[in-house]
Amino acid sequence: MEFRIGYGEDAHRLSSGLPLWIGSFCIEKSPHGAVAHSDGDALLHALSDALLSAVAQGDIGQHFPDTDERWKNMSSTTILKHCLHLVAQAGYGICNVSGVVTLDVPKLNPSRTEIVDVLSKILDLSENQLGLTFKTSEGLATGHIQARVTVLLGKL
Ligand code: C5P
Ligand code: MG
Repeated sequence: MEFRIGYGEDAHRLSSGLPLWIGSFCIEKSPHGAVAHSDGDALLHALSDALLSAVAQGDIGQHFPDTDERWKNMSSTTILKHCLHLVAQAGYGICNVSGVVTLDVPKLNPSRTEIVDVLSKILDLSENQLGLTFKTSEGLATGHIQARVTVLLGKL
């Protein structure tokens, strides 16, 4: 098969005093961050699941069970790199990534350049292969962050 599509999503509760990680970038001066077993980077978790789904390799909970103390507070970048490795092993490369992050506060557009810069480097993509949309919940879900990601893979 020449192409494979993958979709993933993730949600985390927000709590004050925690760092807010979005796409391997820490948003400075955020009033809250994700409550999680790992660093709670919802965008990376959704992206990692999208990659695993595209190559039919299960989900991140199977590869990194949150009941396992080894993965406590682990960087989500480590999870993503493992998924990238599985994609490469299956003989595929990423054509493009399209993601949506739903978060009421803080605004993410001011950090867009940094997020895209950091994440495109980890993915070894050019910036025009990484599309990100930021949305509020219009006050309907102020206490949580949600990320949804689709990826298109092409046979190498
Ligand atoms: O959710 P809503 O459509 O009202 O968001 C308006 C715009 O605010 C978005 O298109 C996006 O550019 C920006 N936004 C942001 N950071 C968020 C949520 C939205 O920069 N956390
Ligand atoms: Mg998560």
